[in-house]
Amino acid sequence: MKDVTAIVLAAGLGTRMKSELHKGLHELAGRPLLFYPIRAALDAGIKRIVLVVGHQAQAVEETVEDLFPDADIGYVTQERQLGTAHAAMCARGEVEDSQDVVVLNGDLPLLGADSIKGLMDACTASGGMLAITAAVVDDPFGFGRVVRDKSGIAARIVEERDAGPDQRGIREINLGVYAARAGHLFSMLDQVGDGNAKGEFYFTDVVELTRKAGHGVGVYVLQSDAEAMQVNDRAELAAAEAAMYQRKAALLMSEGVTIHQPGTVMIDDDCEVGRDTEIWPCVELHAGTRIGSGCVIGRGCVLDNTEVADDVTVLPYSVMTDSSMEDGTKAGPFSHLRPGSVMKRGSKVGNFVEMKKSTLGPGSKSSHLTYLGDSTIGADVNIGAGTITCNYDGVHKMPTTIEDGAFIGSDTQLVAPVKVGRGAYVGAGTTVTRDVPDGALALSRVQQTHIMGYAMAKKKK
Ligand code: UD1
Ligand code: CA
Repeated sequence: MKDVTAIVLAAGLGTRMKSELHKGLHELAGRPLLFYPIRAALDAGIKRIVLVVGHQAQAVEETVEDLFPDADIGYVTQERQLGTAHAAMCARGEVEDSQDVVVLNGDLPLLGADSIKGLMDACTASGGMLAITAAVVDDPFGFGRVVRDKSGIAARIVEERDAGPDQRGIREINLGVYAARAGHLFSMLDQVGDGNAKGEFYFTDVVELTRKAGHGVGVYVLQSDAEAMQVNDRAELAAAEAAMYQRKAALLMSEGVTIHQPGTVMIDDDCEVGRDTEIWPCVELHAGTRIGSGCVIGRGCVLDNTEVADDVTVLPYSVMTDSSMEDGTKAGPFSHLRPGSVMKRGSKVGNFVEMKKSTLGPGSKSSHLTYLGDSTIGADVNIGAGTITCNYDGVHKMPTTIEDGAFIGSDTQLVAPVKVGRGAYVGAGTTVTRDVPDGALALSRVQQTHIMGYAMAKKKK
């Protein structure tokens, strides 16, 4: 591809969000809003991005660096937010006049990479000076309208606020993504004035200026107007997020995933789900989560950055973060895997079992009411109800090891650091404070005594 730079406009605060937080940093489907247009530009094959920052510049830069550590992203500052034309001008020093640029508003989460490619082709086809991205939508409210001349060529863009009643009726909108020859674009931007309803320098004026200069303006019409969503306020944020989740669910269903009530599930767009997996309502799968085939994810489960292999069952209302479940494992209902939990092949955790930084070995089971923290548990271990690894002394975290085939009776406390040897038994109600040798039985119960006739004697008093 030719040498193209993308200029992403993100200096505005996003006043209509009514927020202390920069609009681009608001979360949408598991990522900050600004993530999406930058990723679309990179996916379209554009190697260099220049981000125009202003409000909360430092927070924006830090977030973008975290999201795209390997991308070539430069930052320019727009000190005062005088409008989109002024914002784009701030990037002038970053591009050669002969270069091609793509300019994107930073609040377009559904824009796809293919649309950016289509736009660049439309620019070339129309003479290479300027092309805009348009869509015909049912509700054009809030967008600039594309005004075409008698021959059907784009003549100018009119903003909602500046539009008369006739122009408001136009349903062809300007998405806010443009391709241009840099030298041409900046000489047009030089001529933009602020005589409009907002008193701002509008980028969109370059359309009329380009036509006046005797050049063509290409219009790339979106293949799918589902991409034509911007986020100016919270209602649009919610609508865009819902659209993104809907799109993801539709894609997964087309690939052989069953989703019950897809309108209720939230699956971030980088998540993977294998064939014949069944997802019940109100499930959330967040960034980095991968689920294999033939699994069942029950109602209300929330999985974040969690790896689930094949034939796994997660019963309702389980929560898992930075964890992994191997083939044939089973969890829930109401189980909690905190960061660093690993369930090996065929293991099982039941209701109200919490794991943290622990490995449960192949075929091992912990079925009820248990806390396993900083522990390494071998194969075929049975952990009774109410077992607690006491891993924290108020200062340090300490490890527990339970070796293959051990049996931990109910209501056991394992005071770490401690080890239960291979095949050992721990009697119910035991507090384990010393290592249990292989094959031994550990017991620390107070002897049970009976006071005969006690109840009758008490009543007589
Ligand atoms: C803009 C377009 C409109 C289009 C719509 C859709 C103009 C004048 N209007 O309107 O035709 O339909 O987008 O996306 O361009 N920004 C800056 N500095 C500024 C002002 C804005 O960096 O001084 C940034 C914002 O942070 C934002 C982007 O530019 O990411 C667009 O600004 P916004 O205020 O959302 O423009 P709209 O009013 O939606
Ligand atoms: Ca906008």
